[in-house]
Amino acid sequence: MIVILLGAPGSGKGTQAAMIAETYGIPHISTGDIFRKNIKDGTELGRKAREYIDKGLLVPDEVTNGIVADRIAGKDCAEGFVLDGYPRTIDQALMLGSLLEKTGRRADIAIDIIVGDDDVIHRLSGRSMCKCGETYHVDYKKPRVEGICDKCGGELYVRDDDKPETVVRRLREYHEKTGPIIEYYRKSGILAGIDGTPRPAEVSKSIVEVLGAHGFVTGGE
Ligand code: AP5
Repeated sequence: MIVILLGAPGSGKGTQAAMIAETYGIPHISTGDIFRKNIKDGTELGRKAREYIDKGLLVPDEVTNGIVADRIAGKDCAEGFVLDGYPRTIDQALMLGSLLEKTGRRADIAIDIIVGDDDVIHRLSGRSMCKCGETYHVDYKKPRVEGICDKCGGELYVRDDDKPETVVRRLREYHEKTGPIIEYYRKSGILAGIDGTPRPAEVSKSIVEVLGAHGFVTGGE
């Protein structure tokens, strides 16, 4: 089962990818998380990625494609995976298609989580994160103890690229560069649009229904 999650910054890709990974027992691959880990570890990749991420711009395709190619070649990806935040350009989509073809596979479904720009700005301005990957929101998902992760007890922080001016740049990049991918996957016949505005649990329910209609059953079924 190979699932692609599309959607604007803050549409809920990370939240729903974590749900899909847990429900169906497949790895969650987030290019944003890979970049942030490299930034934190001070690697060359992290240094390069930071130049773009801090400005709200996409990291160049030649950098991003290489890390995804390495990651999906991993043994744990043999039975499938969920991609969160990749592909984001037509070149990335073409690259993914040819990488999968080489191993006789193809993406099963591209789920577009649809949320308006105003909602995105509200969500990102209230988001906090933990280094373990858990995400919180000041209105929609509060931690039990303020500033502390429910899952691992880590200290919560605000992402540098969630500053209002950077969010506006990220949205512009999304509409210009990622927008055309929606059409690409529609033409490929694997696009499913989901309303991303209800509460996270409702959005999860819609996604599980769509995946069920494609023949994918949850671990317990
Ligand atoms: P990345 O980390 O992928 O950021 P993004 O796409 O901008 O998405 P976000 O992580 O901000 O949001 P999300 O859609 O995952 O939403 P979330 O679930 O967290 O990428 C960061 C940067 O890395 C990019 O800007 C780019 O520079 C670079 N990059 C990454 N991939 C790249 C690629 N392929 N090519 C080139 N560059 C790349 O939810 C957001 C908030 O809303 C949370 O607080 C959450 O709790 C809340 N929330 C979630 N769902 C709901 C809901 N249904 N209702 C209310 N609140 C909700």
